[in-house]
Amino acid sequence: MMLILLGAPGAGKGTQAELICQRLHIPAISTGNILREALKSGTELGQKAKTFMDAGNLVPDDVVIDMLKERIAQPDCKDGFILDGFPRTIPQAEALDAMGVVIDRVIDIEVPDEKIVTRMSGRRVCEKCGASYHLVYNPPKVEGVCDKCAGALVQRKDDNAETVRDRLTVYHNQTEPLKSYYAAQGKLFEVNGDRDVEVISADILKELEG
Ligand code: AP5
Ligand code: MG
Repeated sequence: MMLILLGAPGAGKGTQAELICQRLHIPAISTGNILREALKSGTELGQKAKTFMDAGNLVPDDVVIDMLKERIAQPDCKDGFILDGFPRTIPQAEALDAMGVVIDRVIDIEVPDEKIVTRMSGRRVCEKCGASYHLVYNPPKVEGVCDKCAGALVQRKDDNAETVRDRLTVYHNQTEPLKSYYAAQGKLFEVNGDRDVEVISADILKELEG
């Protein structure tokens, strides 16, 4: 199955991707995570992406498209995958079509903007494995320590309120048009993301598994 998770920054794409991929046994691919990894290891890709990411802007299409192409060519993607954070623009969606990737379903997680800023300010991510937590909604067992790998939990640089607002503007201008793009193909499934994590994933899995 080939899935896309669509939604504003902080809508819970990463959170849902993790739950769905465990159930469907296909990898979840987060372009944001790949870029952050590249940044951490100081590769050319990371250096190219840094200024865009820190400012809450999108990394140029050609860079992200090449990166995604390479990732989905890996053997673990042969039975399908979940895309979290890609496509982000119409040209990215067209590139996916041009690669011959036939998307089954696009899950659009809807959360009102005013809720997003609160969510993001409480998010903490593991420096080592990238696992995501929330101080209130999904706290780690031990404060500041990752449950999965014992890495340190930190705040993402682009999670401050001002940058989050910029990311929301970018989302509405450049990414939201994808809803009509995929609705026109009859692939869009909209889910209310302003509820408990488990309730949302139950709805998504019901839609996918019948
Ligand atoms: P990326 O990492 O993809 O960031 P994003 O889309 O802005 O989304 P987030 O990861 O912030 O949010 P999420 O929806 O995954 O939410 P999460 O589950 O963590 O991209 C970062 C940057 O990389 C971009 O700005 C851009 O520069 C670049 N980039 C990446 N892909 C690109 C592309 N294709 N093209 C160009 N540039 C690209 O949840 C958020 C928080 O809320 C967590 O704390 C979580 O615990 C909590 N939470 C989750 N669900 C719930 C719930 N139901 N109730 C309460 N709290 C919840
Ligand atoms: Mg994410």
